[in-house]
Amino acid sequence: MEVNTCFTRVLLTIVLFNKVYTLNILGVFPFEGKSHSFVFNPFMLELAKRGHNVTVISHFPQKKPVQNYRDISLAGKSKILVDVFSLYRSYWSIIEISLFLVNSGTANCKLVMADENVQNLWKTQTKFDLVVTEQFNSDCYLGLAHKLKAPVIGITSHKIMPWHMSRFGIVYNPSHTAFTFLEGGTKPTLYQRIERVIFHNYFNILYKYFCQRIDEETLAQYFDDVPPLEELGRDIKLLLVYQNFAMMGSHIFPSNVIEIGGLHVVKPKPLPKDLKKFIEESEHGIVYISFGSMLKAVTMPTDKLQAIIDALSLLPQRVVWKWEDQTLPGNPKNIYISKWIPQNDVLAHPNVMAFYSHCGLLSTTEAINYGVPMVAMPIFGDQPVNAAAVEESGLGYQIQINELSKEKLLAKFKAVLDPTFRENVKRLSKVWHDRPISAMDTAIFWTEFVARNKNITLSAAAANVPYYQYWCLDILSVFVIFILTITFLIKYLLSFFKRNKRHAMNRKSKKE
Ligand SMILES: *[C@@H]1O[C@H](CO)[C@@H](O)[C@H](O)[C@H]1NC(C)=O
Ligand SMILES: *[C@@H]1O[C@H](CO)[C@@H](O)[C@H](O)[C@H]1NC(C)=O
Repeated sequence: MEVNTCFTRVLLTIVLFNKVYTLNILGVFPFEGKSHSFVFNPFMLELAKRGHNVTVISHFPQKKPVQNYRDISLAGKSKILVDVFSLYRSYWSIIEISLFLVNSGTANCKLVMADENVQNLWKTQTKFDLVVTEQFNSDCYLGLAHKLKAPVIGITSHKIMPWHMSRFGIVYNPSHTAFTFLEGGTKPTLYQRIERVIFHNYFNILYKYFCQRIDEETLAQYFDDVPPLEELGRDIKLLLVYQNFAMMGSHIFPSNVIEIGGLHVVKPKPLPKDLKKFIEESEHGIVYISFGSMLKAVTMPTDKLQAIIDALSLLPQRVVWKWEDQTLPGNPKNIYISKWIPQNDVLAHPNVMAFYSHCGLLSTTEAINYGVPMVAMPIFGDQPVNAAAVEESGLGYQIQINELSKEKLLAKFKAVLDPTFRENVKRLSKVWHDRPISAMDTAIFWTEFVARNKNITLSAAAANVPYYQYWCLDILSVFVIFILTITFLIKYLLSFFKRNKRHAMNRKSKKE
């Protein structure tokens, strides 16, 4: 009897705990870069699949209706970023990217706020349990969430941005914190440390004055009581960050920053017939090349392109190359080119010996997922930091586009094609997969956790400390004042005694 009651209670607890209570979740992902949607899309779909009522604002609506899932589509309202960036790197290209981020972030804020279906959300006072939004180039949607009175979960499809670290209380120290837009990883040279201090401040100032301020003005046209966006940023309940220590290294994160790297990788599908034939008939396997969806490979300088083709011609491997043009110079027979390649399915094939990549985080993630060694050639955005992580983790070697030559590239290929190197990459891939729960389950768990435990504060105290206290400037001032006072006192006393002594001596000599 007793055992029975106990059993019922346990059963009841399990049922109650696992009760699928439907959450109303709003996803706001208005960045027009397709690769970002490759992370958010499967996540929102999974939430819907698990019974939650999901609404998503984005440029990438579902092609077919999905149960529990409603799109507020921005499709057609701005240009999708495919094949837009040129293949070159310099300080100027970093400045260009920063200006692009500002323009795209503030423009999307205006676009979203002017959208009738979005306006209906607050006009009809739709109730949401959670707002999930990207932490990238706009805080506009924190204002929207504030108006809807919903707690916010942030999510990224990249390493955390330099301007978002302080709001979560994440330590930024140029001596060892890899910097998103620059080389050097976790072991920067003195020059690289100076570089990242300058760019860290540049990006933070730019974000504050040219993203947040403009978004605040946009929001003020619709709402009259929105707190400063940085303040709302500090109220974000949780951040799901697209990285994993197996590749990016071990970080100091507060309890509300959760690693979900790997979430987007799906089971491979069968390859198209001709591609499968090309890969499987290769005696020594293949090298796969892609510079991602945003870069236009045909903008590559001809001497660099020739260097790549010449290096590849000296390898026994065949090559599969995502290339936007009809032909390559010289029409090399060993190279299969196509505008579109099912990358996940290709990388999953055991004949793929190496991956020559721009090191977008999703490509890099797929490479470690399948244990494919990389030659990493970063171009823009977060690619330098990913490429540094590739080298530090042992997933591959970097080559910088500015130093690209036939000999150098060939040496990198030889290094990653080495059987011992490959074995180590396979081992690394095992570490990547060795987790208590999958990246998707992790993301879903913590999302539901926030809804279940609305009153719990997970954010770090460091997020809410004023700068002068965080850097101990007040303590330093107290010490400085104290030391100055003591020095002054000692000086005064010394001169006082000296004077006394002189007087005494004077008196003595007078007496004599
Ligand atoms: C699902 O969300 C929509 C908002 O997009 C809302 O109108 C609808 O009432 C919600 N459905 C349920 C069952 O809560
Ligand atoms: C959260 O805290 C508030 C005020 O302290 C309280 O009124 C409310 O019931 C709490 N909610 C939950 C879900 O614990």
